[in-house]
Amino acid sequence: MDADSIRAAYRRYARFYDPVFGNLLASGRHAAVRWINRRGGLRVLEVGVGTGISLSDYRKDNQVVGIDLSTEMLRVAQERVDRERLENVEGLLEMDAGKLAFADGSFDLVVAMYVMTVVPDPQGTMLELERVCKPGGDILIVNHFAADKPGIRRSVENWMAPFSKKLGWRPDFTLDTLMSGSRLKVEELQTVPPFGLFSLLHCRRQADALA
Ligand SMILES: C[S@@+](CC[C@H](N)C(=O)[O-])C[C@H]1O[C@@H](n2cnc3c(N)ncnc32)[C@H](O)[C@@H]1O
Repeated sequence: MDADSIRAAYRRYARFYDPVFGNLLASGRHAAVRWINRRGGLRVLEVGVGTGISLSDYRKDNQVVGIDLSTEMLRVAQERVDRERLENVEGLLEMDAGKLAFADGSFDLVVAMYVMTVVPDPQGTMLELERVCKPGGDILIVNHFAADKPGIRRSVENWMAPFSKKLGWRPDFTLDTLMSGSRLKVEELQTVPPFGLFSLLHCRRQADALA
């Protein structure tokens, strides 16, 4: 999907995103934020922050910046920040994850939940996530990755692939596709519910990967 189709899709989803996808995708979000919350004093970038459904869950001593392409999703996120007085949310900005307007090494940790199969250029976006993360910093991705072995699940994913544009995500997207061209070190990959369909991927920017 290109940026305009993404904006159009999420303009439609914004008001019912939380009731429909809130609980369904909660396990992956909780796993990622639990991981982040093991430490405080971090400056975190949440890429594709959407309606800001995770913002209340961050430790209050972690500063969070959220970016998203969709004005309407960000509007819901800003309402949440105001309603819940989330003072550790430093800002919510309309921005393309593939062209981040931040200096190199601006964040201790970068997280993208259910975003990498939606962005038009996943590999280019990974390079941007790496660029804005400090050397030695962490990148967390929650995503669906296609099965790496042939079988029923892989067949279903291949069958669904031609409908990617209508679905708004790519069922046949693999971890290798995401990581091709990236210098990030994969530290851990764990499966998260529902049905083992999603994964929490932890990568680290190499400490000597200076810009
Ligand atoms: C499936 S939603 C996930 C929202 C949220 N992260 C969550 O956990 O529910 C995908 C989000 O990514 C955003 N998005 C898609 N492509 C983007 C891009 N290139 N740059 C920034 N945000 C993008 C969409 O607007 C949408 O809010």
